Amino acid sequence: MSIPIPAEDPRHLPNRAVIDPSAITQNTRALGTLLEEQTALMAVVKADGYGHGMLTAARAAIEGGATWLGVAHPASALALARADLEVQILTWLYEPHTARTVLPQVIGSGVDVSVGSAEMLALVSEAARAADRRARVHLKIDTGMGRNGVMPWQIREIGAAVREDDFLQLTATWTHLTSADDPADPVTDQQVELFDSACAALEDEVGPIPLQHLANSAATLTRPDLHRDIVRPGIALYGYPPVATDVPLRPAMTLTSRLALVKDVPEGQSIGYGRISTTERATRLGLVPIGYADGLHREASDRAEVLVRTDSGDHRVPQVGRISMDQIVVDLGPAADARPGDEVLLFGDSGGAPNAPWAPTADEWARAAGTIPYEVLTSVSGRVTREVRG
Ligand SMILES: Cc1ncc(COP(=O)(O)O)c(C=O)c1O
Repeated sequence: MSIPIPAEDPRHLPNRAVIDPSAITQNTRALGTLLEEQTALMAVVKADGYGHGMLTAARAAIEGGATWLGVAHPASALALARADLEVQILTWLYEPHTARTVLPQVIGSGVDVSVGSAEMLALVSEAARAADRRARVHLKIDTGMGRNGVMPWQIREIGAAVREDDFLQLTATWTHLTSADDPADPVTDQQVELFDSACAALEDEVGPIPLQHLANSAATLTRPDLHRDIVRPGIALYGYPPVATDVPLRPAMTLTSRLALVKDVPEGQSIGYGRISTTERATRLGLVPIGYADGLHREASDRAEVLVRTDSGDHRVPQVGRISMDQIVVDLGPAADARPGDEVLLFGDSGGAPNAPWAPTADEWARAAGTIPYEVLTSVSGRVTREVRG
């Protein structure tokens, strides 16, 4: 197997995703205060910890009280299992090739595996036999997401198949909510109703179900009645609650760059591809060497803001013109004292003085790009060095 060697030495690049693990720890702790004692917290650290670094995020969340970790890919689960974190791990997304190659090791490492179809059940059973270890199975019920999960009317049959297989142990039932970020939407209650009746049918078939879980960040924050045995927050751990909340959460990732160039331009200067922006007055432009290949959303062009740190303090300035592959332009204003080398915060936590302008958030970038902060965070590309600080 060949291991890719980075073509560019990260020390020689200006862009950083600065990760503050203490923010993840504190966010986890803050969510923990909402839970009854018997409810555990599963930190969702899939997609490389929502772009923050999976192991960094996992360790920080555990310090904040998480006793479970959740990841989509079995390969991620294996990496977590090898890190000896002393928590239970759940993985839920695999196809037959992955199941055959990785699941035996995953199950052999004591990781819990989700089953969302009869085919997945057969794959897990096969992998458990190969590992010569009983697989701990979380049976996923599709209550409306239409993705991974057993349809409610299949639950008795699948439950019976689990019971009859000595290599499978029913550990939990679970489901995923489609619309918990809109607390007024009645579909959440409809999903819960479907889930509860499927669980009742299953218990009728196989006896008590040890654990149940369904709450993502939004439901963790707004629906204590849905906390059940485990909650599974993701985005809130990284500082972005998907619903209005008083729970103090702060961003754990700050995306930074540095001004490459500062120049004076006259009124009427066009900027970037397609000339979508033209200066309305003489001004000073700043060139920032970060673009869509670093993860900025081109859709946010001419709509986002950044924070520039100059000798005179922090200044919020607009990004102007199209976002290019490697660079953006910002309008520093005619009187700016900014100089090449000054730090630029694209989004995150500026930790500035109370009256100083704050850095934009990933939420603001998401709004500018017509997307969600999840995508902004996970889009920060591999060529941006993650630097753990704090
Ligand atoms: C199955 C599952 N549970 C929980 C989560 C966490 O969701 P959120 O980041 O909205 O808290 C996710 C993320 O999408 C998920 O896929």
